[in-house]
Amino acid sequence: MALDQPEQSPTAPGAQEPAALVKPELDAVPETALWTLYYRALEARRPDGLLDDPKAVGLVERIDFPFAERFGTGSSLLLRLQALRVASFDREVSDFLDRCPRGTVVCLGEGLETQYWRVDNGRANWLSADLPETVALRERLLPPVARPIVLRTQVMREAGYVTC
Ligand SMILES: C[S@@+](CC[C@H](N)C(=O)[O-])C[C@H]1O[C@@H](n2cnc3c(N)ncnc32)[C@H](O)[C@@H]1O
Repeated sequence: MALDQPEQSPTAPGAQEPAALVKPELDAVPETALWTLYYRALEARRPDGLLDDPKAVGLVERIDFPFAERFGTGSSLLLRLQALRVASFDREVSDFLDRCPRGTVVCLGEGLETQYWRVDNGRANWLSADLPETVALRERLLPPVARPIVLRTQVMREAGYVTC
C-alpha cells in the first residue's frame, strides 16, 4: 500500500453492513420449517430450477444453521418434488385470489414459508398461525407482510394437526 493512501476501513462509507447471521434455536417439530425452507432455496438456486424464490435463498444465507450437514444436499428428485408441492399450493392460492381478490389466505404452520412474496396480489389478507418460537424466528428474519393477522398458537393439537 502506498504511504499517502488512507487506510481502508473494513466497510467503506455508505456501504451497507452485511446483515448479522441469526441462530434459529428451533428443535423438534418447529425445526421442520428449516427443512422446507432449505429445500425451496436449493431448488431456487439451481440454474434450471422450477421455483423462483429469492426470498428463500436470502433467508438461508441469513440463518446460522448447518443446513447441509443436518438435511443433506437433496437429490434432484427430492428437490423437484418439493418444487412441485410448492407450485401446487401457489397455484391454488393464486386461483383463489383470482376469484376472491380481497380474500384471506390462512397459512397454518407457516414456518418460514415465503409464499406471500410469490403470490400476494396487493389486496388479500394473510393470516399466519404457528408455534410461538417459530413465529418469533419468522419475525426476526422477515419483514412484516402488508395486511397481516398473526396467531402464535398450537393449531388443532388435540385433533392431531397435520401440516401442509
Ligand atoms: C414442515 S414445517 C412447514 C412450514 C411451511 N408450511 C413450509 O412449507 O415451509 C411445519 C410447520 O408447522 C408448524 N407446526 C407444527 N405443529 C403445529 C401446531 N400444533 N400448531 C401450529 N404450528 C404447528 C411448525 O412450527 C412448522 O413451522
